[in-house]
Amino acid sequence: MKIYAHRGCSGTYPENTIVAFKAAASLPIDGVEFDVHMTKDGELVVIHDESIDRTSNGKGFIKDMTLQELQAYDYGAWFSTNFKGEKVPTLREVLYVFKDTHHHINIELKSDVFPYEGMEQKVIEMLKQYRLDDRVVISSFNHEMIQQVKKLAPHIETAILFMEVMVAPMEYALKVGADAFHAFFPTALRKMGKEIIASGKQLRVFTVNEEEYAKILQVVGVHAIFTDYPQKLSDYLKE
Ligand code: G3P
Ligand code: CA
Repeated sequence: MKIYAHRGCSGTYPENTIVAFKAAASLPIDGVEFDVHMTKDGELVVIHDESIDRTSNGKGFIKDMTLQELQAYDYGAWFSTNFKGEKVPTLREVLYVFKDTHHHINIELKSDVFPYEGMEQKVIEMLKQYRLDDRVVISSFNHEMIQQVKKLAPHIETAILFMEVMVAPMEYALKVGADAFHAFFPTALRKMGKEIIASGKQLRVFTVNEEEYAKILQVVGVHAIFTDYPQKLSDYLKE
């Protein structure tokens, strides 16, 4: 079972920051996951929420601010004063961290609340520039975006994110153009999880921080987990 660092090593570093990604890049784990939003001036930035309120010393929605305005704030001190000075990274800066590593890269498009017009195309173009098309999976809770990614770049791996049990998951994935399934933890243990595994499609599960849960998923045959503590869980699973 593969291990992905969720939002970088977000249990021990401020989530979705360069310091968290450099820590993930230095680990002998399989992949990394992060979230992308779009600024008012069309820049792709790596941050989880629609607003900067929770993870910075500023306030406001990303869609209403330019990259320069976003960069005026601190994105590390909320987690610990040791990380004061961390900036919101652009997608370009995060891809640069992983451009020469072995890690599989999961880019989650966070257009769940606000529509980010043209975001799919921008992400695809940047991946092409970095020649990372074949080392990436693009996921989203917004399945219309997944459909659009598959239409624009059929060779890029796509995944649907979902919280609840899905009826007829294979038919649905085919309809929206998803290659893989990214499921909320307990959902993967239902009948549907077994159906996906039996089909040979990738089933990756979020967010797993407990050693016991990781073990259960490994036994079930899940392909990968997203965790805030990749070092701890990878050490445990190797034991
Ligand atoms: O991509 C897996 C997981 O990150 C989805 O949930 O809220 O942590 O982005 P969230
Ligand atoms: Ca995410």
